[in-house]
Amino acid sequence: MSVKRKILATNALPYANGAPHLGHLVGTIQGDIWVRLQKMLGHDCMYICGSDSHGTPIMIQAEKMGITPEALINQVRTQQERDFADFLVEFDNYYTTHSEENRELVETIFKRHLEAGNITKRTIRQLFDPVKNMFLPDRYIKGECPNCGAKDQYGDNCEVCGATYLPTDLKNPYSTLSGTKPVEKESEHYFFKLQNYDEFLKQWTRHGHLQEQVTNKLDEWFKDGLKEWDISRDSPYFGFSIPGETNKYFYVWLDAPVGYMASFKNLCAKRKDINFADYWESYDTADLIHFIGKDIIYFHALFWPAMLHGAGFRTPSQIYVNGFLTVDGQKMSKSRGTFIKARTYLDHLQPEYLRYYFAAKLSDRIEDLDINFDDFSQRINSDLVGKFINIASRCASFINKSFSGKLSAEISEHMLYREFAKAGAIIADNYKKLEYSHAIRQIMTLADKANQYIDEKKPWALMKDPGRHQEVQDICTAGINLFRILMIYLKPILPSTAKQVENFLNIPPLQWQDKDEPLLGHKINDFQPLINRIDPKQIEALKMAAQQDIDKSASAPAQAAVTPAPAKEPVKEPAKEHISIDDFNKIDLRIAKVLEAESVEGADKLLRLKVDLGNETRQIFAGIKSAYQPDQLVGRQVVIVANLAPRKMRFGVSEGMVIVASDGESGNLFIVSPDSGAEPGMKVK
Ligand code: 2FM
Ligand code: ZN
Repeated sequence: MSVKRKILATNALPYANGAPHLGHLVGTIQGDIWVRLQKMLGHDCMYICGSDSHGTPIMIQAEKMGITPEALINQVRTQQERDFADFLVEFDNYYTTHSEENRELVETIFKRHLEAGNITKRTIRQLFDPVKNMFLPDRYIKGECPNCGAKDQYGDNCEVCGATYLPTDLKNPYSTLSGTKPVEKESEHYFFKLQNYDEFLKQWTRHGHLQEQVTNKLDEWFKDGLKEWDISRDSPYFGFSIPGETNKYFYVWLDAPVGYMASFKNLCAKRKDINFADYWESYDTADLIHFIGKDIIYFHALFWPAMLHGAGFRTPSQIYVNGFLTVDGQKMSKSRGTFIKARTYLDHLQPEYLRYYFAAKLSDRIEDLDINFDDFSQRINSDLVGKFINIASRCASFINKSFSGKLSAEISEHMLYREFAKAGAIIADNYKKLEYSHAIRQIMTLADKANQYIDEKKPWALMKDPGRHQEVQDICTAGINLFRILMIYLKPILPSTAKQVENFLNIPPLQWQDKDEPLLGHKINDFQPLINRIDPKQIEALKMAAQQDIDKSASAPAQAAVTPAPAKEPVKEPAKEHISIDDFNKIDLRIAKVLEAESVEGADKLLRLKVDLGNETRQIFAGIKSAYQPDQLVGRQVVIVANLAPRKMRFGVSEGMVIVASDGESGNLFIVSPDSGAEPGMKVK
């Protein structure tokens, strides 16, 4: 091995406002494979991550759920950690940006830049929601496109005609949080003078720290000129307050990358053998590698090196950028039914299938990675089961049954063995360069060769001749050794299979250099099937479950009638919006009688109700299965929203909504019913 290196690798910190989905796993798995390879090569490599826990969307999401932001970020962090671990992603630390380590580091960096004159303050005008009492980030403002007049367009660009503009240019703008018209309001903000780092960044971005495509993209930004960056936000905000200010917070994107440092600092406190300064204060002692998605290049390749450099910290050695995940060639989307949560995948398929599929398609180019489930099954079944595992299953049974599990004392196929071992250099090189698809292609070419070798030697035919048993043992010993080399090469991608193979071969954990020495005169264990073929039924079941997740989340707004519980540590209570009596009268609440009730197959929360509305019957899907047995409901009177737009669900059309009360947190639900004497069809007012 060459010189042992110290490496710290990071993965982009996912926001703590929702469960991980397959899109999150592209970069996470890409980084994990790279880190595992470095470890196998004998380097001292760590991989860290954590939740990106601040910002408006997290605050709003917590409010919607009726819990505190702290409760939300803890809940999501636990889920992220569990999901990533179950995808065999081995983080050395999974922390959060909402931590004391992070606060201290952010304050230090801010103070150093303030003292160096890199931060200014000035007053700006922004759109403000007078009902929610808050400034509105662009994503919470919609209106008519100033160019083509299309309705309900976001504050920065029109999805219909493609025009880009400022939120203040929208016609008839409204806040998506309260529905009211925003007003313009002034506020003083802090700005980071990125342009002070123009020369430094032009140099830095051209010195081998970035993929070529990224450098080219950055050149476009340099041409446009670097602009001051607004790093503060007004209250209400969930983040770190700016020292010396009241009601002002650091913008989430200032403290997010600092979260890498904080996660590492937290790890240093747990592990006495590593030292923060070696990784963040000096260029000579370690390498610093970031894995990120293509949408956050600006933050990582411009702001971040400038922030670090100006505050006396080292800049990254390398930033590796990956593309997005698409499903069947299209952006993963709920409306197309192609949105898949990490956990839903894990409920139906092995994590290593996805790791292998991603690896087989990943390169160092910033291209989107497409998942097509037919192709996915075919790849796994033909490459992993048909080619790779097949080598072991063809040879192991002879060794186990006829030679008491013992491998021959010598390798009979020197040339072939050497050829396999020699390929390790170029395969490792491809892993290091993120050219995983090349590595896989080379490994599978070798797997074909190993199978060909067994085909030609026909140990099953030789076994019939008692005088040729030694040959059979030699052929199968060679076969198992070729398989062992392939397992070494696939171990960064298939760590769990590698563990099983190590048990089967009765050996300690495989390292990269083990490829050079064959396993001889050694007793192996019985062979167990290592990877199973994917059954099309599993894919079907996954797709169904993903659709159910989508239906569930689509029915969440229908639960708006559920009263959220007051949070234990209440978020600053936003001003309540008043509605007029006319607004209230728009809602047609009616008494209805339940005629039929039944569970909906494939939906764990829904009941299908048929209700009598006096002069008509309606079908309603209600998310009340956790609280009511279908037959408890038949004959009962309920209150429904009768003029809710019909909603098409996978199970049928829902023609209204049943009003329930809930404490929001425990999931307990209570149907609201009229006193006796009320009749179906009566208006509730
Ligand atoms: O874009 C995102 O999902 C961010 N949460 C990534 C942050 S990476 C780092 F800066 F923390
Ligand atoms: Zn338009």
